[in-house]
Amino acid sequence: MGITSGPMTARIVVFGATGYTGRLVTAELVAAGHRPVLAGRTETRVRALAAAYDGLETTVADAADVVDAADVVDAADGASLARLLGLGTGDVLVSTVGPFRRFGRPVVAAAAAVGAHYLDCSGEGAFLRHVFTEVGPRAAASGAALIPGAGFDFVPGNLAGALALQAAGGEARRLDVGYLVMGALGMSSGTRATLLAALTEPVIVLRGGVLVERPLAREVRSFRSSGKVTGGSGGRRGHPAVLWSGGEPFTLPRLAPALTDVATYIGGVDRGIRVGQALSFPLSGLRRFPPSRALLAAAARSALRTTGRGPDRAARARAGAQVFALARDAAGRELATVRLEGRDPYAFTARIMAWMAGHLAAGTVARAGALGPVDAFGVEDLERAAAAAGLRRVG
Ligand SMILES: NC(=O)c1ccc[n+]([C@@H]2O[C@H](COP(=O)([O-])OP(=O)(O)OC[C@H]3O[C@@H](n4cnc5c(N)ncnc54)[C@H](OP(=O)(O)O)[C@@H]3O)[C@@H](O)[C@H]2O)c1
Repeated sequence: MGITSGPMTARIVVFGATGYTGRLVTAELVAAGHRPVLAGRTETRVRALAAAYDGLETTVADAADVVDAADVVDAADGASLARLLGLGTGDVLVSTVGPFRRFGRPVVAAAAAVGAHYLDCSGEGAFLRHVFTEVGPRAAASGAALIPGAGFDFVPGNLAGALALQAAGGEARRLDVGYLVMGALGMSSGTRATLLAALTEPVIVLRGGVLVERPLAREVRSFRSSGKVTGGSGGRRGHPAVLWSGGEPFTLPRLAPALTDVATYIGGVDRGIRVGQALSFPLSGLRRFPPSRALLAAAARSALRTTGRGPDRAARARAGAQVFALARDAAGRELATVRLEGRDPYAFTARIMAWMAGHLAAGTVARAGALGPVDAFGVEDLERAAAAAGLRRVG
């Protein structure tokens, strides 16, 4: 089902507004002239933040109430959370409440239940699979556009992949996306908690036209870079990057159904990547060993107690990434490579999500269901918005 226009009064609700990323997104929305509704689980924090913006509207809801009450989140759970958040048809729900595997299901169900549009900054493959395969069809019926993974994970790879597919023409069958980190990327409290929870989880890749699970960091690809990448020699052999959880295996085949193989890699610092690959074996073993799995789960739960922390502006500006998309034909011959480069992934996340939320609220997205960023906004507009948010094509 298509949607053409939302009401002029569409509300933008930021769930997780008091967190590190939620605060950045709120600031960008306000700077762009919006008056978002601030939603969170701690009333005093949400009110204090709203007061700093001249009294924005607030609402209080706890996603854990819904997750803990029912193992399976159904449409009724979604509808009850939508009521708490004050969401209606055509409104926009921006969620920064992670880890999304733990808290995300009722939130995206809330949007789908009432036909509200939805954006999140999830970087978790299993959650993306849930949105694309299970919630997407319900959203298509209710008129909601769902765009999970709408931050630095995984807008750059979706955009670079779409540009590489355009350049490659119809022969492209395989696409590898590499995120090469530059500088020391400081982590926010939510990123740390999410990473800890995901360390023993497999990643999801497209192989032979089928989505399959592979151990994290087990495979290595090389990506060539003309610029200096911290700690890496690069050169003609390129920079090694290890298999990582990505959104691209879900979003890129939607643009090019003939693709049979899509995977996402992370790299940047040569030594770090070798350690990461070596750790892949014990980590996937840990998953099968209950006491160690319990220890990791306890560490992840403990990390969840801290929220709202992260690198300051100066530290963020020192970090960046080059994002590669390599398109190959069925025989593995390279057809096209596109490289994007940007600094400060957290600022990028906040700016691009604010831009997307503004468009969804204005009713300019004419599609419903689970969408990738290029699906929703088109490659030209998305490339312009990404450049304005600090991520540009190079080379
Ligand atoms: N894709 C990307 O590039 C990208 C970028 C940034 C972040 N992320 C992801 O986004 C998520 C958030 O990261 P962050 O560092 O912003 O997190 P954070 O600072 O820890 O903030 C988490 C937010 O969620 C709220 N919250 C926690 N549990 C909740 C619950 N049960 N119900 C409702 N709200 C709840 C917290 O409320 P309180 O303030 O009351 O504690 C806080 O507002 C993580 O999963 C992270 O990996 C992704």
